[in-house]
Formats: sequence, C-alpha cells, structure tokens
Amino acid sequence: MDFINQMEPWFDAREADAVDAYLRSGGWVTEFRKTRAFEAAIAAYTGAASCSVVSNGTISLTLALLACGVGPGDEVLVPDYTMVATANAVQPTGARVVFVDIDHDTLGMDYDRMVAAVTPRTKAVLLVSINGRAPARLDAIVAFCRGRGIHLVEDAAQSLGSHHGGRHLGTFGDIGSFSFSAPKVITTGQGGALVTDHPKLIEAIGKLRDFGREAPGADHYLTMGWNAKFTDLQAVIGLVQMEKLPWRVERKKAIYARYQQHLQSIPWLDLLPTDLTQTSPWFIDVLVPADRRAALIAHLKAQQIGSRPFYPALHAEPVYNRTTEHYPVAEEIAQRGLWLPSASKLTDEQIDVVCAAVRSFPG
Ligand SMILES: Cc1ncc(COP(=O)(O)O)c(C=O)c1O
Repeated sequence: MDFINQMEPWFDAREADAVDAYLRSGGWVTEFRKTRAFEAAIAAYTGAASCSVVSNGTISLTLALLACGVGPGDEVLVPDYTMVATANAVQPTGARVVFVDIDHDTLGMDYDRMVAAVTPRTKAVLLVSINGRAPARLDAIVAFCRGRGIHLVEDAAQSLGSHHGGRHLGTFGDIGSFSFSAPKVITTGQGGALVTDHPKLIEAIGKLRDFGREAPGADHYLTMGWNAKFTDLQAVIGLVQMEKLPWRVERKKAIYARYQQHLQSIPWLDLLPTDLTQTSPWFIDVLVPADRRAALIAHLKAQQIGSRPFYPALHAEPVYNRTTEHYPVAEEIAQRGLWLPSASKLTDEQIDVVCAAVRSFPG
C-alpha cells in the first residue's frame, strides 16, 4: 500500500495546460491581468468588496496590521494556540504580542479572556478561525472590538470555504487574511490574500505591498512599502484551483463526516463540535491522550499512514519564552491534538483504512 500522507496538494492536467498556455502567450510572469482576475475571483467567492493578493499568508497579516496603523508601543492580542505565523506577523510592526487563551470547543480566542487582556495600548486583535471553525461568540467579539475602536484582523488562513451564519469567515473584521501554501484547500505553492470592505485599507495594502508606490509602475513613493507581490504564474494556477474549490469544500465536509462516523465511538478519542453546514474542515483534527500521542503517531506510521501533532502553545516556545505565563486550554489542546490524513483527494477506502488503524491502537 502507498503511504497515505497527512496532507498533499492536488493538481491535474488543467493546471499544467493553463501554465503552458500562459507561458506560450508571452506573459511577463510577474503580477498583471491574471493576478487581478485571481483577486476578483477571491473577492467574489468570499463576498468581500475587494481583495489584494500577496506573497504568503504571513506577510499578509503584517501588512494588514500596518494598514490598520499598528506600530511600536501598541499591543496586539493573539491566541496562544495558532500557527506561529499569526504571532510572528506582529513583530515587524514593532508592536507587542499579548497571548490570550482559547475556547475548548472551537479552538478560537476566548471572548472573556480577550476582554480581560485588553489594555489602553491594545490596537488590534488577530482572530484566528482554526480549521474553518468560527471562534465562539464571534458576533460578540466583532461588536466588542468595534465598540472599543480596536482593529479586528481575521487570520482565516485555514478557512477558505467556511462560514458563520452563512457569511464567509474573513469578512467579519476590518481585514481578513487567507493562505495558499501547499497544504491548504487550494494552493499556489505560496501565496496569501487580504480581503476588506474598506477602500482606504485596500489602498494602503496596495502601497505597502508595492514599495509604497503611488500606483503600480509609478516611481513616486508615498509611504514606506516593501515587495510582497504575487505573480501571474501563481495566479494562473490559482484560477484553476478556484474553479475546483466548491467541489473540494463539499468533499472536505464529506471526508470529515466519514471520519466522524468511524471514530466517534472510540472511548479514548475526542472529536470537536463541528457544524458541517458552516465549516469545511481543512484538517481532520482529533484529541487523544497526551501521553499516548507519540505512540499513536508511530503506530499509524508503521501502517503507512501519516499524521501530525497540533501546533505547540506559542508562549512557551523558545522564540517567545514566556514561561511564567499560562494558558491552560491552549496547553491541553496542544498536547492532545492530532491531525489525521486530510487531503481532498483521499478516497473513502483510504479513510476506512486510516480509521481501522486508529481503532486497532490500544488507547
Ligand atoms: C492560521 C495560520 N496563519 C498563518 C499561516 C501562514 O500562512 P503562509 O504559510 O501562507 O505564510 C498559516 C499557515 O499554515 C496558518 O495556518
């Protein structure tokens, strides 16, 4: 049996043909019409007024914070459980990361703990929707930030195709950010997107990503800016992937439902509450006993099955080294969480093989 990867990108002849046709058409590869078309496709899909694509879903967060005016002396609230990019994106702005514990069911920032962490220096909240699940009390978080004049930037890197109350995640705050890195539901190798309904913010992002230029190609520099641009070559792939997205979103839900059906009766394994009418789970996430997780990973690997432990709680990682701080929910989740094979191309038969292997583990 071939190894079943925990995650893998998925292309076919359509992306190959599109790249071939583009290169033969004499395109300059750098961002141009295909990039604008990809941005329009993302805005239309998410329901946002505008979209700006950038080189990845980390620089996108930094640019979003800078566009909101975040700078030295400010504090940005970040969930303690998230991919490290969320927290690291704050550093280039000169602001300070303030970690906040998460809610056990959605793995998003906990509302009460968020409110308690706010100080007069709080300039922004980086709200992450982990694995396509809207953070608990999202509407209250939005209302609180609006009422306090705190910028809300949504890190929806894992949430393309996921909603809350029928509205796409990433469109609740001032700016929403997505990622197109290789493991995401659709990919352009690397890539990120920012969506917003605010013309001033999209204008600011446009300058920040293009050397601070007044307009593309115009060498008059109005603000500080860098090069975080996308390429038409990536956009050509992205446009084909966008056409596949609706099918993949449904397939991800079906994959999750099948796992759920097979795994829910295992006494030592927990699944998180998941509303498949709104959430398209990017990864299959389960909670297992912390002291048995490494053994389960080895057990699966011996049967040609890939899996991956959840991210660590960030505050205690050497890069942040805030060992006196404690975030009990994030710490527990980080130690118990495991991702099982989750690629859109997984077959039902492969899912059944994975579930049988999990069941055969002496929990
Ligand atoms: C929640 C979250 N934020 C940010 C990122 C960073 O995105 P990128 O890899 O495109 O820089 C990721 C990537 O997995 C992510 O999961």
